[in-house]
Amino acid sequence: MTLKLRPRRMRLNDNIRAMVRETSLSVKDFVYPIFVVAGSNVKDEIPSMPNCYHLSVDNAVELAKQIDALGIPAVEVFGLPEYKDDIGSSAWNMDSPVQRAIAAIKKAVPNLIIIGDVCLCQYTNHGHCGKLCGQYVDNDSTLELLQKVAVSQAQAGADIVAPSDMMDGRIAAIRDALDDNHFINVSIMSYAVKYASAFYGPFRDAADSAPHFGDRKQYQMDPANSREALKEVELDLSEGADIIMVKPALTYLDIVRAVRESINRPVAVYNVSGEYAMVKAAAANGWIDEKRIVIESLTSMKRAGSDIIISYHAIDAARWLGNI
Ligand code: PBG
Repeated sequence: MTLKLRPRRMRLNDNIRAMVRETSLSVKDFVYPIFVVAGSNVKDEIPSMPNCYHLSVDNAVELAKQIDALGIPAVEVFGLPEYKDDIGSSAWNMDSPVQRAIAAIKKAVPNLIIIGDVCLCQYTNHGHCGKLCGQYVDNDSTLELLQKVAVSQAQAGADIVAPSDMMDGRIAAIRDALDDNHFINVSIMSYAVKYASAFYGPFRDAADSAPHFGDRKQYQMDPANSREALKEVELDLSEGADIIMVKPALTYLDIVRAVRESINRPVAVYNVSGEYAMVKAAAANGWIDEKRIVIESLTSMKRAGSDIIISYHAIDAARWLGNI
């Protein structure tokens, strides 16, 4: 018997594999998240996220220049405010680190796309993503606050605002507020499908944003659900979202695929802090080959259907893809 069908022929060497490769990862797929704080010349490593830093605005600008030089098209800006209160008012203060960083980066590196994370949990003294009514996060009164955050970030120079709070109706509310303030060309990247995930643990340390009581299960999605994800996507698109995000990434690639097949708008995926921390910890122990694990993981996100990958690995991956 002679075998006629031999898939291995297409795997014989680097060049043939490159010719038949179905998915290619590019530096242009990436967004790098940064954490900004008050002060100057601050660069403090985040313990559970090795090689990620709390940066003052001056250092954030320097990093943004490096990110641009690597060819990464965008950064997403998160911040730690100087004060917190019950409604998170520092989230729309034009003197807060996020607004100042957005303005400074826009000035220094005008072509770099700046995405502002629109949420309140880093800014409220209770750590929830909205305004409280007793122990309940009140949806509709939170929308007005989110509108202020989005407009302040647009005023600072953000190209895209990315609401991550999971309140109902926020995309329509933010679109209205942006348009009323003449920011018709500021896009909305919706964290449309955001699960109530344990994989956000290191981020909450980094952003000091863990809820002080309860959890986020009344607004973030149940990890067991996928039909609900498509409902969230449909609502956000009907309200005016330009980009749809699924978050976290690796344990939700089935959702990325389902969303990709159900819509014809750009899909983003957020490779979150816990996913990053696990890779870094195993690599630090010498248990895995970090470079191969990272490229394989990011490729799987692209293969599942995402156009945009937000990842703390983006800088390393950009270097590896460019063989630097
Ligand atoms: C704010 C927000 C979170 C993340 C992004 N925006 C945390 C949360 O919802 O608790 C998580 C990012 C990460 O884990 O890398 N709501």
